Amino acid sequence: MTETNPPVIEIRDLHKSYGSLEVLKGVDMVAPRGHVVSLIGSSGSGKSTLLRCANLLEDSQQGEILFEGEPIAWRGTGLGRHPANRTQVTRIRTNLSMVFQQFNLWGHMTILQNVMEAPVTVLKRDAAEVEEKARGYLDKVGIGDKCDAYPAMLSGGQQQRAAIARALCMEPRALLFDEPTSALDPELEQEVVRVIKALAEEGRTMLIVTHDMRMAADVSDHVVFLHQGRIEEEGPPETLFGAPKTERLQGFLNAGKPQ
Ligand SMILES: Nc1ncnc2c1ncn2[C@@H]1O[C@H](COP(=O)(O)OP(=O)(O)OP(=O)(O)O)[C@@H](O)[C@H]1O
Ligand SMILES: [Mg+2]
Repeated sequence: MTETNPPVIEIRDLHKSYGSLEVLKGVDMVAPRGHVVSLIGSSGSGKSTLLRCANLLEDSQQGEILFEGEPIAWRGTGLGRHPANRTQVTRIRTNLSMVFQQFNLWGHMTILQNVMEAPVTVLKRDAAEVEEKARGYLDKVGIGDKCDAYPAMLSGGQQQRAAIARALCMEPRALLFDEPTSALDPELEQEVVRVIKALAEEGRTMLIVTHDMRMAADVSDHVVFLHQGRIEEEGPPETLFGAPKTERLQGFLNAGKPQ
């Protein structure tokens, strides 16, 4: 990695506790530009916490987080450590768009308004230009005909695709997904997986927490297996899924297989 092309996100030796509970115990992770990194692991292993720390939604107590080579500035130490520079946090956070399991669309706004909201109010972009882009992204995820509908009128798969269009409309440097398909029925899940695959093929930088091993195998350049707050094993999907080395990963993958 040259200095002119640093990874979008780099995390070094990250430690994160909630009170006395240490949830991340020294995690290193890199999301290079144009790569898809998936995070897998059992419930409670720290996947969402890692994603939220990467997005600066959570504080961490030790270690470094770099955005495009720029280290986050901290003040204080341990549980008293916080980002030193709010402007830096806001700038970085608006460049990392998050997609949640529960879509988190505004119920009182139409789909188009949902997608336009942050670019217009947070980034202060011109509303007419944002509208054109928003319609384009809604077309891209296959729900261009739902602009004037309210979220409650859409299926879960359509709502999640609207949430992806909303994330794209921020034109972020990376997309962060926290279990984007786990609230969906299998056939609706596939609609969303297809959109995520298309984004991966476009060369978008993505960090994806998922329980869907098939999607992780299909879309990822790199897969990270977290176990109790540590990286137990990582590598390209062919190796991780095809020839898992550790007993823990073998056990985790076997537990998810149909009997
Ligand atoms: N806000 C919080 N306060 C206290 N403990 C928390 C908080 N959020 C998470 N934890 C704890 O941190 C640990 C890791 O949680 P996390 O949500 O990161 O796991 P996960 O790998 O995303 O699990 P899942 O697959 O169930 O979503 C768990 O033990 C959880 O109970
Ligand atoms: Mg989680």
